[in-house]
Amino acid sequence: MSTITVLIVDDLPGTREDIKRLLYFEEDIKIVGEAGDGDEAVSLADSLKPDVILMDVNMPRMDGIRASEIITERNPNSAIVIVSIQGEKDYLRRAMAAGARDYLVKPFSSDELASTIRRASEFSKRFRIRLADSKTPPPAVPAREPGKIITFFSTKGGVGKTTVACNLAIGLAQEAKGKVALVDMDLQGGDVSVFMNIPAKGGLAEVAQEEDYSDPSLLETYFCPHMSGVRILPAPASPEQAELVTAIHAEEILKTLKNTYDYILVDTPAALNDVTLACLESSDRIVIIANQELPALRHIKVNLEILQKLNLHGRSRIVLNRFRPEILKIKDLESHINSTVWAVIIEDAATVTSSINKGRPFVLTRPSAEITVGFRKLASQLANDGSAETAELEKQPQKSIIGRIFSF
Ligand SMILES: Nc1ncnc2c1ncn2[C@@H]1O[C@H](COP(=O)(O)OP(=O)(O)OP(=O)(O)O)[C@@H](O)[C@H]1O
Ligand SMILES: [Mg+2]
Repeated sequence: MSTITVLIVDDLPGTREDIKRLLYFEEDIKIVGEAGDGDEAVSLADSLKPDVILMDVNMPRMDGIRASEIITERNPNSAIVIVSIQGEKDYLRRAMAAGARDYLVKPFSSDELASTIRRASEFSKRFRIRLADSKTPPPAVPAREPGKIITFFSTKGGVGKTTVACNLAIGLAQEAKGKVALVDMDLQGGDVSVFMNIPAKGGLAEVAQEEDYSDPSLLETYFCPHMSGVRILPAPASPEQAELVTAIHAEEILKTLKNTYDYILVDTPAALNDVTLACLESSDRIVIIANQELPALRHIKVNLEILQKLNLHGRSRIVLNRFRPEILKIKDLESHINSTVWAVIIEDAATVTSSINKGRPFVLTRPSAEITVGFRKLASQLANDGSAETAELEKQPQKSIIGRIFSF
């Protein structure tokens, strides 16, 4: 295992200590130096040549942006990760423009910090190899595997889309150790912020009013961090603001997030509107949620037909929620809907209801409950579910999405 060397730059000794504590158990990451301002950062970057520099923005004498500019010029092999607080969006943009590779918004978990450092170091390694190979300049955005967009869908309300999206987001952050975004595209009635107990802020409605809403560093400033490490982009704070967010916004935002997150989980409303359609179209995986009640079963067929008409059925997976074996056998259900059930989640009203009421997802608070164990398995299953069968889709001439549903 090769060691990643890190320089911490922050004027507050307490913050430097916090970062060191968060990295204490990461055997492949070694803190080689600490600087208290931009000046010191520039000279330590020269002498230590660290793989990664964790850079604070606001510091006395020379700030983190100026320091990033000078270091990028003198030591392009050191990858700079900006550490900022929510609301410093202008700084964040300028820092990315000054050559920073990635950013972290406080507060962050040790997993998130360590995986960002590893990703940044991986990037600078690749950059070094490229420089040695040729004189090709580095790309403007970090080279990384594009993230996977997973949309939770059902035209039937109340089947558990939000419950599954929230708990699976945490499951993925824990099991797959990736950077996870949870986007609440249920624009009128989205309740992800209630389920996760985060402040209900403007979220997507404010993003949509930005001129450059597909700028990753700007987009990041609208995310709310959750204690699990998942980052949440909430629905608009009030239903009237929902119409500010269009299908084009949805498409662009999700496309941008593919470059900065490993998994982008999207919650949707039961209504099949153009924003939901844009989410489906952008997805690598579409998880159809259903339960065993007859109306919900009828909706599985309807949903499968919709996806078929959109030519997106190859990306879909059926997840049966609130499963009770005494009600219906899976194979009977499968023959009824003429499709395979990909996964089941058991019914556990006590655990689920109390977790929603407290705003504390059960995957975090009830780690040994049977339903949590099931969610962890489902998270691994999803993480290992190969890339979408899109080849057939790309071959087909593309009509407009609405046209594909209604003019058949
Ligand atoms: N596995 C489960 N066991 C027991 N109850 C569950 C389970 N999953 C969801 N529920 C219950 O079902 C209800 C609806 O869940 P949820 O809000 O997640 O559905 P939804 O599909 O997002 O609804 P909407 O269409 O209104 O957005 C919740 O009150 C929750 O308590
Ligand atoms: Mg919901």
